[in-house]
Amino acid sequence: MPDEILASPINIGKKTAPNRWVNHPMECNDSDEFGNPTELTFKRYRKLAEGAAGMITVESLTVSYRSRARKNQLQITERNAQGLARLVKEMREINERSLIIFQINHSGNLSNGSFSEVVSYYPTADPTVSILSDEDVEQIKQWFVDAALIAYQVGADGIDFKQCHGYLCGQLLRPANTKQGRFGGNFENRTRFFRETSEQIKKKIRDERFILGTRVSVYEGIIGGIGTAGADEVAEDLTEPLAFARMIEESGFHFINVSSGIPVFTGEVCRPTRHYPIGVFRHFTWTQAMRGAVKIPVIGTGYSYLRDGKNKLAGVDPTRRTLLYWAEKNLKSGSVDLIGIGRQSLADPLFAKKILAGNLDDINYCKACGGCSKLLQAQARVGCTVYDDFYKEELRRIKRGAL
Ligand SMILES: Cc1cc2nc3c(=O)[nH]c(=O)nc-3n(C[C@H](O)[C@H](O)[C@H](O)COP(=O)(O)O)c2cc1C
Ligand code: SF4
Repeated sequence: MPDEILASPINIGKKTAPNRWVNHPMECNDSDEFGNPTELTFKRYRKLAEGAAGMITVESLTVSYRSRARKNQLQITERNAQGLARLVKEMREINERSLIIFQINHSGNLSNGSFSEVVSYYPTADPTVSILSDEDVEQIKQWFVDAALIAYQVGADGIDFKQCHGYLCGQLLRPANTKQGRFGGNFENRTRFFRETSEQIKKKIRDERFILGTRVSVYEGIIGGIGTAGADEVAEDLTEPLAFARMIEESGFHFINVSSGIPVFTGEVCRPTRHYPIGVFRHFTWTQAMRGAVKIPVIGTGYSYLRDGKNKLAGVDPTRRTLLYWAEKNLKSGSVDLIGIGRQSLADPLFAKKILAGNLDDINYCKACGGCSKLLQAQARVGCTVYDDFYKEELRRIKRGAL
């Protein structure tokens, strides 16, 4: 049987996650034309609810229709409240104990120009990007506050105020944001958006039980990116990310989900594969560093590629390179508090339930084949193209050029 630490509850703010598994946010691009959940969305989340991870994060929800990276990205505005309330209700009918967290996001300059507005706070290499003024950023702040309130009103346990993966909030944080303005230049200014928006969210939602969390990229892997020491630097320097972690805690947040990379530019940094297996260990190192900086629970990333040991990690005997081995080891050593799974939750939404019951042989392990990412890049509906025939066919349709 897996170690009991995996099944042990953990307090997150004033609530409790019943076990140490977290389903990372995984956007699957299957909303209707207004950003509402569809039957496909409900089906996916019902399955995840059945899987009973301690925390289930609902994927990147756009705070405005104009800031979408995906054509069918789920949205969180007034007009989506009814659909989101149904989503939470359906999940709770299956499982009352898992914490349900909504990730809220603005895609910034990673918005898709063919149906959205590509915006950046500071000038980028792309001359077609619209540059945001300080007043524009104030408006976006309000969208995040409104989104957090909707999450609260529809019954989510909390939010993940997304700061990672190169979207607007992450872009503001990076040293390359040298713009002279309230939200650019020094560290104080670059973190202002996070601090002020968080303050406004707390003023608006006065319920201490509502969980405030955030997902951060510790190192983006680009020049002047998060985790470097300056606009022209690329060497890893965690001074700012660790200071930001302390700021997150001081702002009254209840958890940090540690990620890295920018999926569209530095995909392997974000999600390790056979082309970059040691990415797994880099994630562990980043998470451990963040764990050391704060007292609030820290969620780790990078586990899916480990699988049942069938991976290309070198110099390690097969029994010590499985997902289960590292989940137990990292929890026991205190270098992480919860184990986040991304692709593995698509490959097998019942993963947490199976592993906690010791049914290891029943698990559909993610093969890190990249099929789901291909679907996302093609603006198709996303799921596992290995274990789910519907998405297998979706991938075939892309290959045939039918999508
Ligand atoms: C298809 C797909 C969709 C994703 N959607 C999101 C998302 O909505 N929000 C987010 O923070 N990360 C997202 N990610 C990143 C994952 O949450 C996770 O960080 C990454 O896959 C690495 O974890 P893993 O090795 O367990 O898969 C996505 C990744 C994939 C492959
Ligand atoms: S499509 Fe491939 S990478 Fe994505 S979840 Fe399935 S097995 Fe994993």
